[in-house]
Amino acid sequence: HKAPKATLVIFGINGDLSHRLLMPSLINMTADGLIGDDLTILGIGRAEDDDESLRRGFETFKGEAGGEGALDMQAPRIRDAWQSLRSRLFYLRGNFGDADLYQRLHARFDQTGNGSAVFYLATAPHFFGDIVERLATAELLDESSGFRRIAIEKPFGHDLTSARELNARILTLAHENQLYRIDHFLGKETVQNIMVARFANTMMEAVWNRNYIDHVQITAAETVGVGTRGAFYNATGALRDMVPNHLFQILAMIAMEPPNSFDAEAIRNEKAKVFRAVRGPTDETVAADAVRGVYTAGKVGGKEVGGYRATPDVAPDSRTETYAALKLAVDSWRWAGVPFYLRTGKALAQRDTEVVVHFKPVPFAQFQGTGVILPPANKLVIQLQPNAGIAMDLVVKRPGPAIETAPVRMDFCYGDTFDIAHATGYETLIYDMLIGDQTLFQRADGVEAAWAALQPVIDAWQAAGEPQPYAAGSDGPQAADELIERDGRQWHRIGP
Ligand code: BG6
Repeated sequence: HKAPKATLVIFGINGDLSHRLLMPSLINMTADGLIGDDLTILGIGRAEDDDESLRRGFETFKGEAGGEGALDMQAPRIRDAWQSLRSRLFYLRGNFGDADLYQRLHARFDQTGNGSAVFYLATAPHFFGDIVERLATAELLDESSGFRRIAIEKPFGHDLTSARELNARILTLAHENQLYRIDHFLGKETVQNIMVARFANTMMEAVWNRNYIDHVQITAAETVGVGTRGAFYNATGALRDMVPNHLFQILAMIAMEPPNSFDAEAIRNEKAKVFRAVRGPTDETVAADAVRGVYTAGKVGGKEVGGYRATPDVAPDSRTETYAALKLAVDSWRWAGVPFYLRTGKALAQRDTEVVVHFKPVPFAQFQGTGVILPPANKLVIQLQPNAGIAMDLVVKRPGPAIETAPVRMDFCYGDTFDIAHATGYETLIYDMLIGDQTLFQRADGVEAAWAALQPVIDAWQAAGEPQPYAAGSDGPQAADELIERDGRQWHRIGP
């Protein structure tokens, strides 16, 4: 169903996000008939552009780098969609801090008589509060002539205090139901699928608890380094960049109780409960249960990569981490005693975003006489990217006269069954903003609870110590292996 008539106002139209993800998504959405002639896109930027030069700038883009979601601009489907979208893309030049910009914006709404709008803040985070304030002052958030919504990119704050301040400030200017705090992992089909896999399958939910699950591992391994994002990344680091947002969203999907409906509030309530129940490392345990690393020069996929500290805009004595591993608990009836191990890093050997649910071993070793002491415990591997799918590690009988066990894998690969090749993940999110569905967006309480769970780690890392070096192209620092091996467990191998 086509989204309603509206204007999508993108602050930061010349930025990386707009080029890499937002525009490709809008083209995909046009091709899929999710948006039509009555969606106008108004890009705001500081560059000396006009409508035509802005459009030309998008003509040459290639879509999301790295393959997944990349647009083939020559494909008839994409070319036609772009032709249709092109004429509805306009440019407004201005400084985000300039009152005059908002007056001109206001005037444009009056001219077109089109009341509904989404204001998408694809800008550096320090603009978020000010832009919302100026939108409110210029009465652009008044919903009397249509909906007025604000989409805010991450990072939402850089710690608990700043997230609270930003929420408090924005919530005096707009209602929570106007706010769409983005975590793009929630736009990924495979992340949303975790909920469906759990709640649409009796056999999953039956064993989804501390009685059968030994522990859970959540991994987001990237091969890309920090590249040209040195200034942003150095002030952020792997923990803030990935953990309270992307990895926690995955964790919430795994750990939440079944919502009583698939309504936005029902789901967000259950997720917020998980965030509040997460017990992260404390001042006493942080040294053992949180590991940070930084990549040094090495080779990723056969290519030489310089060390993080040699990245442009990064100081040679930077203490920012490019890798983080944590052991967390979820204090609830369902999860008491089940550790959740999280890790994420840049410049690693392979790209791999996955959840591995390790079940407990069977209680009794009937197969002792066969040379096998205990068959390996079952594992459920939810592969989010690349090659999305779900695999289950089972044990079967090896053919032959003796009872011998053999580990096997049952594999469901998304791409074999469905066509998901052309999506960037932002299609779903933009569509939901336009139709007013907040399910896949973060609510204020959830954001704050996630920061609260990690604040002791942030503080401890800020106060002292240094990240452990790991070579680019490796699987991360040795201390991360020690973190899990101390508990008699091992990380799931990164990669296919
Ligand atoms: C972003 C982070 O939010 O997510 C990046 O800022 C990271 O550092 C990216 O690379 C990972 O997203 P994806 O979709 O490529 O897994």
